[in-house]
Amino acid sequence: MSLEFKNVSHGYGGLEVLKDVRFNAEPGRITVLLGPSGCGKSTLLKLAAGFERPAAGSVCFDERPVTGPGAERGMMFQTPVLFDWLTAAGNVAFGLRQAGVRGKEQQERVDRFMELTGLSDFRDYYPSALSGGMQQRTALARLLVMEPQCLLMDEPFAALDAQLRPKMQSLVLSVWQDLRPTVLFVTHDVEEALVLGHRILVFSKRPGQIVREIEREFEKRDPLEQLMDPDFGKEKRNILEILRDL
Ligand SMILES: Nc1ncnc2c1ncn2[C@@H]1O[C@H](COP(=O)(O)OP(=O)(O)OP(=O)(O)O)[C@@H](O)[C@H]1O
Ligand SMILES: [Mg+2]
Repeated sequence: MSLEFKNVSHGYGGLEVLKDVRFNAEPGRITVLLGPSGCGKSTLLKLAAGFERPAAGSVCFDERPVTGPGAERGMMFQTPVLFDWLTAAGNVAFGLRQAGVRGKEQQERVDRFMELTGLSDFRDYYPSALSGGMQQRTALARLLVMEPQCLLMDEPFAALDAQLRPKMQSLVLSVWQDLRPTVLFVTHDVEEALVLGHRILVFSKRPGQIVREIEREFEKRDPLEQLMDPDFGKEKRNILEILRDL
């Protein structure tokens, strides 16, 4: 199902943050947003999640205007937002419980995503006792376990080390392969944008507008394999040059 931004403008007080942004995050594809700090990327995701309403224009999911948060659109924030009174496993189970998924099925789904995010040994830890990267992975498990039709991910792997990052990217790709959700993914990392994105939208400085669109291959391979591709460096350089000239 597509997530469409129709002439969206937004700001805070006198600050113009997004200006006439138009694009369609196509159904079942990963659209990556890349752009300078403060250009409005997180703001765009908050509009898609329905936490804020645009000052002008509209955001539609599955052709219906987004008027508030909804379970079909799952969001992962730039800094992990966890319930600090619940354990890691409790956080991952929270949405399932709300959705009426209980008992064995709940347990199995939670276990599966704790395992896939490498958190099995920390399932009974409270967020305050988890490292930043573990908190972020808990938030990832909590998002993926719900199998939303639309994933809104705001720099989810920025705090992860070089070993974990490709693992989590692989996880996102494999979940995408299974369920084909519509994904809107924000990153600062050009390599991550290339590895994950079917389409990369480069934003200008604030007020954010789309200045470039880059199409990537549709069927995604393993992140490390993509990095080894001889053309990868060229594509990375291309994008770095676009960003430099903004
Ligand atoms: N709730 C708010 N109230 C006032 N100003 C805000 C609010 N949220 C964001 N802004 C401002 O809007 C602009 C865009 O912020 P946003 O978080 O969308 O940027 P970003 O592109 O995600 O940046 P970064 O890459 O650093 O995360 C910034 O100048 C920020 O100060
Ligand atoms: Mg941001």
